[in-house]
Amino acid sequence: MKKRIAVVLMILMVFTLVGCGQTASTSGGEIKIGSNFEMSGASATFGQSSVNGIKLAFKEINAKGGVLGKQLKLIEADNKSEPGESTVAATKLITQDKVVAVLGSVASSDTLAAAPVAMENKIPLLSPTSTNPKVTVDKDTGKVKDYVFRVCFIDPFQGEVAANFVQNELKAKSAAVFIDQKSDYSQGLAEVFVDVFKKNGGTITTQEKYVAAQDKDFKATLTKIKSTNPDVIFIPGYYQEVGLIAKQARDMGLNVPLVGGDGWDSSDLVKIAGKEALNNTYFVNHVATDDPAVKGFVENYKKEYNQDPDALAVLAYDAANVLADAIKTAGDTNGDKIKTALENIKDFNALSGKTSIDPKTHNPIKSAVILEIKDGKNIFKTKIEPKK
Ligand code: PHE
Repeated sequence: MKKRIAVVLMILMVFTLVGCGQTASTSGGEIKIGSNFEMSGASATFGQSSVNGIKLAFKEINAKGGVLGKQLKLIEADNKSEPGESTVAATKLITQDKVVAVLGSVASSDTLAAAPVAMENKIPLLSPTSTNPKVTVDKDTGKVKDYVFRVCFIDPFQGEVAANFVQNELKAKSAAVFIDQKSDYSQGLAEVFVDVFKKNGGTITTQEKYVAAQDKDFKATLTKIKSTNPDVIFIPGYYQEVGLIAKQARDMGLNVPLVGGDGWDSSDLVKIAGKEALNNTYFVNHVATDDPAVKGFVENYKKEYNQDPDALAVLAYDAANVLADAIKTAGDTNGDKIKTALENIKDFNALSGKTSIDPKTHNPIKSAVILEIKDGKNIFKTKIEPKK
């Protein structure tokens, strides 16, 4: 009898131990990924869409068993659409939460501010949508930032696409440019646009500046722009200011085409500007969400969030999948191993197109689309393939 009890007790003990082991490995069975996005502040829709895209990707990956047998867990931080806060967010994610990699940010200035933290701690950072060249390549040394990557095209391509479109399709001979003077993205994109536009024989009538999140009244500058009589106005900014500028321009009878880049992509743009003001406007973007290639994703996204996705959601979904793939290839969550796997991403079947990361620049080469805004809707116009 005693022997029996002892055996039962032993068996129970073994089970308990195994049980403990299991709990330990499940709770330690997570891979923590940081999310550093614009969840509030001037470009809050950028972060919200991006995080939605990432969460959908993680949900799918986890349902299929996760990565390396572990569940992906997103640790979220809000950079409040400010570079200083982006440094704080990256520091918290990396040094306190001990994430193995960081996804984000959207705005180039915010990703640029987080990059040194990733570099110091040797933790890979992957931006879905930051397009300024300096994000991944140091401007002074020309050297790639070892731990900083992106899955989108860069502004030298986007600016060229915009300039060519304005000249070839809109038949514009002159353009005014209206720049957000504190944004690395806006400045870089404007520079390329001006260069290409002039090289193609066009005239820049004037280059004006504004300060985002501060300026709300653009009428004086728009009056000045109007007096230079441009065929189009190029506005490489984000949706908040672009919305106000479009509205105020139309109010004063400035009805020439307005053209911009990916920073226009937000469901808030039409809320701010109104449908009317946005007719005869065009912008470059990463993907068209009515492209059949993204149909399944669009349906799943709508089911999950009860709203339409934008390009930011698509790219963030892609970034999450690329990162998961890299961790799988690395076979480990060590920062250096993930970094090497990211450098070797080749022909990854992303929603936004086949993605290969160039180890020398940490940029992929991808196509762009031009969208026309008509009665408040983004209508696909053309797709531009990059020169190989
Ligand atoms: N490309 C922009 C930047 O680098 C960010 C952005 C991408 C905004 C896509 C909207 C859509 O700052």
